[in-house]
Amino acid sequence: MFGDQLARVWDLIYQTGRGKDYHAEAELVAETVRARNPGARSLLDVGCGTGEHMVAFGELFDHAEGVDLSEPMISIARDKAPHTTFHVGDMCTFDLGRSFDAVVSLYTAVGYLPSLDALSAALRRMAAHLTPDGVLVVEPWWFAEKFLDGHVAGDVVQEDGRTVARVSRTERRDDRAHMEIHYTVADGNGIQSFTESHSFGIWTRQQYLQAFADAGCQVEYVEDVLYCGMFVGCRA
Ligand SMILES: C[S@@+](CC[C@H](N)C(=O)[O-])C[C@H]1O[C@@H](n2cnc3c(N)ncnc32)[C@H](O)[C@@H]1O
Repeated sequence: MFGDQLARVWDLIYQTGRGKDYHAEAELVAETVRARNPGARSLLDVGCGTGEHMVAFGELFDHAEGVDLSEPMISIARDKAPHTTFHVGDMCTFDLGRSFDAVVSLYTAVGYLPSLDALSAALRRMAAHLTPDGVLVVEPWWFAEKFLDGHVAGDVVQEDGRTVARVSRTERRDDRAHMEIHYTVADGNGIQSFTESHSFGIWTRQQYLQAFADAGCQVEYVEDVLYCGMFVGCRA
C-alpha cells in the first residue's frame, strides 16, 4: 500500500486530474483551528502523504511537521518542502516528543486503520501531541451510512508527456471496504502497470464519535466540507 509507483502518480491523479485544491483545504483547516485557538502557531499533519497540504501549512503556520507510514510518500513530500520536518511513523504509536497547537489528519488517512481499537489508539496519539488549547481536525473515510458497495471509479490524466489511467472497484467484506486499484502509466520510456489493494473500515458516525470519546477527545462533526466532512475538537 502506498508504494513507490503510487507515490509518483499521486499528485497527478488527485491534484491535476481530480482538481483537489490542497491550498484551499489547508486554508479552511487553518481557519477552523484559529476559530478555536486564535494564537495557533504550530501544526502536525498525520498521514500527510506527499505533503501537498504541508506546503500550504508551511505558509499558514510558523511551524509545521508531517508524519506518514509510507516512506515513498514522505520522500515526495521531502522533495517538495525540503525545510519541513517529516517523520516516517505509524499514527497508532508515534511519539515526536513535542506538542502542537493543531494536529490534523486529512483525506481519510484514519480510514485505513485496521479496527476501531486502532482508530482510538491513533486518536489518543494525536491528542497526546496537542498543546492544552490545541485543536484536533480529522477527516474520516465514508461513513457506513454513505458507503456504496460495488462502487467503481476511473480517471485518465495527462501532463508533461505522461498519461496515467486509474480504475478502481470497492466491495464490502465483513466490516471492511476492499478497494482494488489498477494503474497504467505511459511516458517516453514505455508503459507500466501496477495494482494496489486498499482496505478501509466502514464505520458509522456514531462509532467514530465513540472512538474519539474513548481517546479522551471532545469533538463535533462538520458536514459538507473537504471530501468526507471533518471532526473538530480538543482533548476532553
Ligand atoms: C489517502 S492518503 C492521504 C494523504 C494526504 N493526507 C493527502 O491529503 O493527500 C492516506 C495516507 O495515510 C497514510 N497512512 C495510512 N495508514 C497510516 C498509519 N497507520 N500511520 C500513518 N500514516 C498512515 C498513507 O501512507 C497515505 O499517505
